[in-house]
Amino acid sequence: MTTTTDTNPKAADSGASATARFRSDKASGVADTPKERVDLLAGEVIEAVTATVRRHKVTYDEYNALKSWLISVGEDGEWPLFLDVWVEHAVEEVATEHREGNKGAIEGPFYVPNAPEQGADGTIPMREDEHGTELVWTGQVTSVDGSALGGAVVELWHADSDGYYSQFAPGLPEWNLRGTFTTDDEGRFAITTIRPAPYQIPTDGACGKLIAAAGWHAWRPAHLHVKVSAPGHELLTAQLYFPGDEHNDDDIASAVKPELMLAPTTTDSGETVDYGFVLDPTRD
Ligand code: DHB
Ligand code: FE
Repeated sequence: MTTTTDTNPKAADSGASATARFRSDKASGVADTPKERVDLLAGEVIEAVTATVRRHKVTYDEYNALKSWLISVGEDGEWPLFLDVWVEHAVEEVATEHREGNKGAIEGPFYVPNAPEQGADGTIPMREDEHGTELVWTGQVTSVDGSALGGAVVELWHADSDGYYSQFAPGLPEWNLRGTFTTDDEGRFAITTIRPAPYQIPTDGACGKLIAAAGWHAWRPAHLHVKVSAPGHELLTAQLYFPGDEHNDDDIASAVKPELMLAPTTTDSGETVDYGFVLDPTRD
């Protein structure tokens, strides 16, 4: 592996960072959720678990293995990873099913707000010797009625060509491959970045142990993460994928949708692709 990273990223490092990041940005207490919803949802989940115990005659050894594993998910700081890989895709589907514009995909555990602003036409922050194929991405942000959304904000973050995210793996510059772009008067943007590598969720922590024990694989296909926002419109959180990736059909996070597939073409310096976004007006 060729990388300028000087330390080996570890699940516990990215897990701990993901937990701290979630706590500081998003955590709202269970006390803020209406009692009727907690009663309904927690009750139904517990019922589903106990139904599985009865149906498959779960033994004490299996119950204790589960208990021990759940404890280690917390110790490894992997609750954000576990939930974003195996649960978030269903929440995202429910949240965006009414949309006429782009529906989106999971956010995942590695978003960081306020990445450096690069204007409408710019290069994402990256190392001087950043490895990977250059990717020039142009697009337009419009509303569902077809009108251009000038001043729309496109936040882009993705892994490097070794599959690592800045601020979650050690040794990478703070804002590496994280940038904020703002569309011009015609809603257009042009972003230069590199093509990310397929991403393997950390295998040395509790989630990795589950994957190995179940005989699953740990891969997500290569993907770009975006958040697209404009005044008076619903925030779009999405991911974009590359044709031909061997994990497009069996993404461990179940977050690939056909409409999120890019169609890049080869250029002298790398690749170029055109892909835009359609935002839904906010509902009142
Ligand atoms: C995970 C990582 C990702 O990059 C992503 O998009 C979704 C989930 C994870 O490790 O849980
Ligand atoms: Fe990701």
